[in-house]
Parts: sequence; C-alpha cells; structure tokens
Amino acid sequence: MQIKTINPSASKRILCTKSLPGDRWISLLTEAGFSLDIVTEERVPSKSELLELVGDSCYAVIGQLSETWDEECVRKLGAAGCKVYANYAVGYNNVDTACAKELGIAVCNTPGVLTHTTAEMGVALTFAAARRVAEGDKFMREGKFSGWLPRLLRGNLLYRKTLGLIGAGRIGSSYARMMVMGHQMNCLYASPSPKLPMENQLREFHRFMGNSSAFVTHVENIDTLLKESDVIALFPTLNPTTVHLINAPRLALCKSDAVLINMSRGQVIDEKALVEHLKTHPRFLCGLDVYEQEPDLAPGLSELPNVVLAAHTGSASYEARENMATLCALNIIGVSREYPPFSGDSMDPFLADSPPLFTPSVVA
Ligand code: GLV
Ligand code: GLV
Repeated sequence: MQIKTINPSASKRILCTKSLPGDRWISLLTEAGFSLDIVTEERVPSKSELLELVGDSCYAVIGQLSETWDEECVRKLGAAGCKVYANYAVGYNNVDTACAKELGIAVCNTPGVLTHTTAEMGVALTFAAARRVAEGDKFMREGKFSGWLPRLLRGNLLYRKTLGLIGAGRIGSSYARMMVMGHQMNCLYASPSPKLPMENQLREFHRFMGNSSAFVTHVENIDTLLKESDVIALFPTLNPTTVHLINAPRLALCKSDAVLINMSRGQVIDEKALVEHLKTHPRFLCGLDVYEQEPDLAPGLSELPNVVLAAHTGSASYEARENMATLCALNIIGVSREYPPFSGDSMDPFLADSPPLFTPSVVA
C-alpha cells in the first residue's frame, strides 16, 4: 500500500493505517522522537496487507475500527515489538484485547472527544427519521413536489413524548440531555447500573419547567422500555450480551410508529429482522449510523422509505476527528513514558497546549 514516511531517522516506528485530519498528532509524535509510516490510501487494508504493514519492527499502531485486529494480527504486533495499539475510535470491539493484554500491548481508545459530536448526530438522525427529511429530499430532487398539501410527508412530533435510551455512557447520556432538555421528553433508560447524576439533572430540569407528570426512570427490563417509548435510541457497547439485542420478538413489542435509532454498532440489531419489520410497519421509522456487516447493508434495507441511512459518521465533525488523532498520539506517548492512566472524566485537558502527564485512555 502507499505509505508516507515522516521523520524516518527516528528509531521507534509508528504505523498509522490511515491519513488522519489535523497535524497536531504528527508534531506530538515526531517531537517525542517517533518515525511515522502513514498509509495514504483511502481503503480498508486486507488482513494480509495489515500483517505486511506491521512488518518486523513497529513500536505502536494507530488503527481503525474498520480493521479487524484479531489474534493473528495482535500476535504479529507482539512479534514486531509493539507496545501500544491506539484505536482511532471510542469503540474497540475490532481488537482482540485479551490477546493484547497477554502480550503486554496496551490498547487505547478515544473517548470524551467525540461525545457531543456523536450525540448531535444521534439527534440529527432522530429528527431526520421522525420528520422524514431524507424522503422529502428525494421527493424534491425527483421533481415530485406539486405544492403544499395537508397530508404530505407527515411525521412524528417528539415534544413531551417518551425517549427510551439503551446504554447511558457518555454519548448516550449526552444524547438524552439534548432530547429531554430540548424537547421536554420523558426518559426511560436501561443501563447496567442507574446513572444518578444524569437522572437527577433531568428530573431537576423537569421540575424547573413545571412538568409535574414528566418522568425519568431507570428500567431493569428493556421489554418495558420498548413497549412504552416513542423514540428508542441505542447507545450500548457491543459485547456478547448486546449482540442482536433488538431482534424480531423485541421489534414486535415496539409501538408501531416508534422511531428507532442506532448509534452504537450494527450487530446490536438483527438487521434482517429489522428490514422485515420496516416492510410490514410503514409507520415505524428508523435512523441508522451503523450496520451489521459494514460496509454492506442487509438485502432490501436501502429500498425502504422509512429508514434514514448515515455512513457511520457519528464522530465525523471537523473538531472531533482532529481531537481523536491528538488523543491517539497522546495515548502512545503516555504509554511510552509510562504515564499512569487518566482517571478524570473530561478529556479537555489533553487538548490544551500542555497536556497532563497521563495516558488518556487505556482500555486493556
Ligand atoms: C465509532 O463508531 C467509534 O467507536 O468511535
Ligand atoms: C463513550 O464515550 C461512551 O461511554 O458512550
């Protein structure tokens, strides 16, 4: 593959499998004495290409969620003397973290810097689905608009309806704040444990607004949430308990005109079952940013009018994508200097001129 090399005389080599936005990450790494091999091709490398790119000597890798760093690839990293694998993403289900841990390779990710960006995209998809924005756009471009009509492209009002949030980590709770405070929605949420700070903040908001019948409630059972919610928003991490969390029996529990949003990983939804559900429930609306077999879509999905499809661009703001690169660089520098893992919540200090002497985020 085509590679651009920076600072080739430095002894410790870093492989970056894509060209990343911004240049702060490059100056941080070169000033810290690393050489950089940056793949300049805009396509996903095959497994054999990945193994070849790692080569015989590689201190660290900045990799992508579109690459599968399975046991064979991680063992190749170990053999090349790799000490850090920095994923350019918050999710790291693409990495065999157990194998990395066994080989003493730190696995790092980029939380915090993409939280609001991703939550905002979730809001965008929610309203795009609820108000049929993509359908309208297609309708206009096809020249079908013959003037204002009382029934044309009606969608769902979300004001004071019920949000069902599944997964209330940083991104999910940021989305819940935007939806509840922006649109005075009730909130049912499912997460492994209650998130009291979020819950109290949202309840306080409703009190302040005088919404005496509004509720914000943690639920143990997602079936209850599915039955009662007008918007169902998926933000869980992908793990064995969340694979196909939304399947045919669970879709059957949802309101027939619910809006379903997935900002997590495609495997959280049984996509074939979703296609069937969308076909048989034309008032059911859906916004997807992620797919079960990326970059492929389940057969029939792209023909359905009641789903809005985004191209896994949740974190794709100019700001977030540069800050993710900075965090990858600081993760590598932090591990190489044996800085302790950061325990604070906000990553903002790492974006300042003098980042703290911590490793921003080590996940394994
Ligand atoms: C994107 O999906 C990410 O995990 O950052
Ligand atoms: C990611 O930052 C999350 O916890 O949602």
